Amino acid sequence: MDYEKQIAGILNGFQPATALMTASGLGLFDELKKPAAAPKIAKKLDLDPQASLRLLNVLTGMGIVAKEDDRFYLPEGWRKFLQRDGERYLGQWIALMADLQKAWMELPQYIGSGHNVTSVMDMLGGDPERMRAFIDAMHDKAVKATGMIARAVPLGQARRMLDVGGGPGTYALEWARLHPALQATVFDIAPVLEVARDYIRRYKLEDRVTTQTGDFNQGDLGTGYDLVLLANVLHMYSAEMASALVARAAAALEPEGRLIIHGFATDEGGTSPLEDAIFSVNIGLLTEGGRAHPLAEMTGWVTSAGLAEARSFRIDAIPTGVLTAVKP
Ligand SMILES: C[S@@+](CC[C@H](N)C(=O)[O-])C[C@H]1O[C@@H](n2cnc3c(N)ncnc32)[C@H](O)[C@@H]1O
Repeated sequence: MDYEKQIAGILNGFQPATALMTASGLGLFDELKKPAAAPKIAKKLDLDPQASLRLLNVLTGMGIVAKEDDRFYLPEGWRKFLQRDGERYLGQWIALMADLQKAWMELPQYIGSGHNVTSVMDMLGGDPERMRAFIDAMHDKAVKATGMIARAVPLGQARRMLDVGGGPGTYALEWARLHPALQATVFDIAPVLEVARDYIRRYKLEDRVTTQTGDFNQGDLGTGYDLVLLANVLHMYSAEMASALVARAAAALEPEGRLIIHGFATDEGGTSPLEDAIFSVNIGLLTEGGRAHPLAEMTGWVTSAGLAEARSFRIDAIPTGVLTAVKP
């Protein structure tokens, strides 16, 4: 193994990521609908022409932007993800990663103290603009996963779904769109649900998707559901709180009802998949006690909550872990 090359490769990782985040944040990709020279693009965005040229060259080298005769454009495949009017625009997610980069600069502090350096819940309950951006990022990221889970789990039989910590309600909305008999409730804190209601209106599903305000760590979650989802929620809390939440979610299910957990899920040693091990550090920076829980541990919580037929699999989305079980 060429150790030196490997170290250099790892160290260089932050630079292409920062190039992508910067270009997205500056709105550069929106100016690449038609081939244009760097000075023209820079003038339109009030940027320095020489520095913009260097950034565009890097993005070209990364295989995102195309360059012909000194003119740059964004090829078709990238447009729907990187241009503001693209149908799968990921700009909010990219912006969230740029925000997270600042938290990662505080990594030595977290590793030294074991305490988070900022709080994701303060972010969600605080500045409305940042909260909106976070929730929009959740939505952008979730759409792909909803389709993949829907293809792997028999959701069509469900009539009443509870989306616990549903954020924008993406899973409830996408699955309600797929299954016309499904009624869903998105459970979250009040400021987040204001954003969820915007999404519900956008999907035109006001008659079938409703919201419920509450703290899912307090009291019960209701009853009568035949589908309960915990998507990207358990990692925000310690094993003790997350297992209690799984028990509460199981209690909300009708017999034969199904629990689905989607989220980061490491192996027993906590080292793999690497993305999940990295995420465990990430969430340590942002929450007191949160972590990417090991899949085997979560399976134990599900079984202790009285559920059967526990089945886990991975999907080609972020995050990859899915665990599902049925109430006997
Ligand atoms: C990472 S987001 C996941 C959103 C959505 N399920 C998804 O996967 O796209 C976590 C959500 O859990 C909500 N949440 C966290 N703690 C909560 C609590 N104690 N009570 C209610 N909602 C909570 C947050 O407001 C946020 O919307």
